[in-house]
Amino acid sequence: MEEVKRNVKVALLGSGTVGTGVYKLIERQKNEMPYKIGANLSVAKILVRNKNKKREGVDASLLTDQWEDILLDEDIQIVVEVMGGIEPARTYIMEALKAGKHVVTANKDLIAESGKELLDVAEENGCDLLFEASVAGGIPILAPLKQSLAGNYLTEVMGIVNGTTNFILSKMSEEGMEFDEALALATELGYAEADPTADIEGYDAGRKVAIMASIAFNSRVTFDDVHTEGITNITAKDIKYAKEMGCAIKLLGVAKNTETGIEVHVNPMLIPSSHPLATVSDSFNAVFVHGDAVDDTMFYGRGAGEFPTASAVMGDIIEVARNIQYHCNGRILCTCYKNLPIKKITEIESKYFMRMLVEDKPGVLAKIADTLGKTDVSIAQVIQKNKIGDYAELVVITHLVLEQNFAEALINIRGMETTKEISTVIRVY
Ligand code: NAP
Ligand code: HSE
Repeated sequence: MEEVKRNVKVALLGSGTVGTGVYKLIERQKNEMPYKIGANLSVAKILVRNKNKKREGVDASLLTDQWEDILLDEDIQIVVEVMGGIEPARTYIMEALKAGKHVVTANKDLIAESGKELLDVAEENGCDLLFEASVAGGIPILAPLKQSLAGNYLTEVMGIVNGTTNFILSKMSEEGMEFDEALALATELGYAEADPTADIEGYDAGRKVAIMASIAFNSRVTFDDVHTEGITNITAKDIKYAKEMGCAIKLLGVAKNTETGIEVHVNPMLIPSSHPLATVSDSFNAVFVHGDAVDDTMFYGRGAGEFPTASAVMGDIIEVARNIQYHCNGRILCTCYKNLPIKKITEIESKYFMRMLVEDKPGVLAKIADTLGKTDVSIAQVIQKNKIGDYAELVVITHLVLEQNFAEALINIRGMETTKEISTVIRVY
């Protein structure tokens, strides 16, 4: 190959876990770039909050704490936003696009909230805006949904898209740990953040599912459209009982494209042990996609971490650089050309697992069945587990039932004199 004289210059916004990984990967791949993109690729500047912080393996002379140093540098063609949060990331991305710079981001919070607005500005300015790393870290999922699977009518995208909660549920299942103990271990090992709320309450997964559903169904879904429930109420006992019934409990992000609208929610769910997602353990992620032509497909890998996430960011950078080479940036931007209705959670049908303590005396079970039946909740299975004092522990599994009917049934059962408590309610896949 002839000596390549063209240079594509990149600026990183952030030099934390992901930013440092991207920097190192660009260095590692340096000699491959002329072959892969027909140009040299280098990092020209890195925006950080604190220039004096020690950063292993990063050239300190590239650091700046002034956004204008990057915005006004005409040689910088690609801005890689890996700082996180909504502001100032949103403003910087907007300004970069308006200045004709292409943007790669890993920011699911921002894309799930303002994706359309940002993609519109990218289109107006003929720029690329890619965000593969925003969903499931290193797993290639957004590009396959947009490109490789574009010949399908996709009806279902669901998966395990949060590594922290999958790690916690795996430890509870494999080692019988309780939630708090497993969360403490996730924190110690660096999986969970100092404030793990977004992970354990399902918000992080909700943002990722919103992004995937928008692309898969060609219709905008934002985080506000996603009903989210976390895993804080799941106990080791629920997991043990689920296992005895041939199921695992996983935090699943589910998006379905039905004839009556899009269903999108994040919940802990019982899933049959024979389902491929049931075997995804530790901090791994996996996304299951169903299309009318391809049938079932599954994407599996590391959903977070320095190099897995940097791998996804790097793939986007390389795509932008190739587009620059062939003058075809802005080819695939907003793919939401439909405006499908999004169902309210009360309109969605699910099966339920319900664990409860009730008085252990004749007629109680019959009364429970009668109460459930009044709001059209049909029982698929009842198992009497332990006797705890004067109470019997029951596990009830329902057939498919409308969420609003089930919610009403729960109120009625809680109101029965013979009910001590409803300990857990979990959806069944
Ligand atoms: P991080 O380790 O906290 O790093 C954030 C970096 O951004 C730091 O270098 C910080 O500077 C810089 N920064 C933050 N606010 C800034 C501001 N206002 N001005 C200038 N610099 C600022 O975060 P991360 O884990 O790398 O995550 C980055 C993004 O990737 C987030 O959107 C996250 O959701 C996403 N993501 C992360 C992972 C993962 O495994 N970590 C996986 C997928 C997606 P200082 O160093 O000076 O503080
Ligand atoms: N907190 C996220 C997780 C990091 O646990 O999966 C990747 O987005």
